Amino acid sequence: YWVVDKTVENPGAYPQLAEAAQLLKEKQTVAFPTETVYGLGADATSDEAVDKIFKAKGRPSDNPLIVHIAEEKQLEELAEEIPETAKVLMKAFWPGPLTLVVKVKKGALSEKVTAGLDTVGIRMPRHPVALALIRMSGLPIAAPSANRSGKPSPTLARHVREDLAGKIAGIVDGGETGVGVESTVLDVTAEVPVILRPGGVTKEQLEERIGKVRLDPGLKGTGAGTRPKAPGMKYTHYAPDAPVYLVDGSTAFMQRMIDAHREKGEVTGAIVTEETSGIVRADVVAVCGRRASLETVAHHLYDTLRSFDAQKVDVIFSEIFPREGIGRAIMNRLEKAAGHRYVKEEDVQ
Ligand code: TXA
Ligand code: MG
Repeated sequence: YWVVDKTVENPGAYPQLAEAAQLLKEKQTVAFPTETVYGLGADATSDEAVDKIFKAKGRPSDNPLIVHIAEEKQLEELAEEIPETAKVLMKAFWPGPLTLVVKVKKGALSEKVTAGLDTVGIRMPRHPVALALIRMSGLPIAAPSANRSGKPSPTLARHVREDLAGKIAGIVDGGETGVGVESTVLDVTAEVPVILRPGGVTKEQLEERIGKVRLDPGLKGTGAGTRPKAPGMKYTHYAPDAPVYLVDGSTAFMQRMIDAHREKGEVTGAIVTEETSGIVRADVVAVCGRRASLETVAHHLYDTLRSFDAQKVDVIFSEIFPREGIGRAIMNRLEKAAGHRYVKEEDVQ
């Protein structure tokens, strides 16, 4: 695979990028960095190319892909209509971690991209390598996260290699990604736009620009019986091999939970923050960031979740975070990693 400096200012200086773009034109799959996570790209207009994405990831075919563009005029070629709210948001957040779900123009894309829906999710990534690659390919690029379906999304080229080596044509290594969780998926076809997946652009940021935004009721978690509107949100996801429990309570309570499992002879893991890393004792303690800066938690979250698989732990306990700002995306991914399993201090006392 190719290593490209993520500060690339002059893509012409990177023959690797030209090579990667050529592979995309030849309907091959290439992984590349974005500001959120690594994506696995292919020509979004070609059934043959898009099929290779689903095969490499082991992804269910009813889960549509996000299409990545580098110029706003590409959107006009792909979208049947562009609502006013979408225009405001594009101006504010593109390039950036916001995917807009709009009505798709018939025949503009492979139907495998949209999984038969009449809408398509489109975004313009902020990463210079991603933008350069898309521009050089001259194509709209379908790109889901470049992980095996069900695993945490990749934030390092190494993660892509762990999951997909031998199954894809190439990886462009641009170092660590930035935000660390995926883009916000926003349906702008409804009167009041709906967040289908919380992500890099927060609900608060969106509402500052366009007023009221709703959260898809299907995101609320277990039991409610509502189906998430983003097909991908219904699958188990982001899960380490060992079961994850979210700890709703004090650090002392978390320690009691860990100790109880250690006494049974289990190898325990803990996801903690810098603020608690000196206090919590477990066999494997992973620091996912600083509680005082949730952006750092988002940035390290997937690498933290992945780190346990190499350590052979039996059970993982994780701190939880306030559901505001980027915390909404963090908690959405943690709940999926944990299959919504919580241990609550108030229940145990
Ligand atoms: O940050 C990101 O968005 C990354 C990077 C690579 O750009 N990509 C990404 O793609 O996360 P993926 O395929 O892993 O997730 C796409 C999500 C899924 O939950 C999918 O169901 C939803 O977006 N989605 C895509 N098109 C949709 C549509 N037309 N309607 C509703 N949900 C859609
Ligand atoms: Mg994904």
